[in-house]
Amino acid sequence: MDLPIQLYSGSEDNFIVIGHRGASAYYPENTMSAFRAAYEMGAEMIELDILLSKDGIPVVIHDETLDRTTNGKGLVANYSLEELRKLDAGLWFGEEHAGEQIPTLEEVLEFAKGKIALNIEIKTEAVADEPSGGIEEKALNLVKKHGMEAHVLFSSFDYRAISHLKQLDVDISAALLYEKSQSAGRIPSELIENYEADAFNCSRRQFSKRWAEDTQRHNIPVFIYTVNNKRHMEKVIKRGASGIFSDKPDLLKQVVDNMWKTK
Ligand code: G3P
Ligand code: MG
Repeated sequence: MDLPIQLYSGSEDNFIVIGHRGASAYYPENTMSAFRAAYEMGAEMIELDILLSKDGIPVVIHDETLDRTTNGKGLVANYSLEELRKLDAGLWFGEEHAGEQIPTLEEVLEFAKGKIALNIEIKTEAVADEPSGGIEEKALNLVKKHGMEAHVLFSSFDYRAISHLKQLDVDISAALLYEKSQSAGRIPSELIENYEADAFNCSRRQFSKRWAEDTQRHNIPVFIYTVNNKRHMEKVIKRGASGIFSDKPDLLKQVVDNMWKTK
């Protein structure tokens, strides 16, 4: 299966070890520490989630609100970048992680360039109806500014975001994150064709034998989230996934290396 992006560390197994929100089992998710750790553990790609600040800057955070992962309250979209940067994004995970900031997408691109591929997940809450001027175009421009186009896979649960990205640049790689209500009973290959997407992402439980056969037959790379258990990792790899999102990229790397050795 051809991968939809280029890796910096050309692994022979043609499988992508992805640090989900960084190495988020060990460091506060979606922070520079979590991203650095994922890289150091041998992840080949980092997954991160983006939303827009009040002043329209792509920032890296999973939830629509600040409450769970920072010491702030309310919607991310109600705060300017300057205000967001004053918040602590590590304290919730443990006192020893105090002092982490919410990263900007640009900061992550600066870190990743030349080192590690990225999966930039555009959160539904930030997607609007217009194809241009929104989070998709802002993120795409930053990726291009840093020359990371070949090393970035965009994704979204909001299928509008995939259409917008492809309208903005047909050559940028984008994955559909399976979302039932927009899928109208269609199987992965039908969705991929309809949205001109380059990969199909779904959860471990959704990755049925039927879907595995369908994606394999149509040569569609599949990336599976979020797998933190060795037995589950092995099963998903045997079923034919091209990559796995894990909070424990170190464990995933071990599993992949072992399976590759004993092949
Ligand atoms: O992109 C894979 C995975 O991150 C999707 O779910 O909620 O962890 O962003 P979530
Ligand atoms: Mg995500």
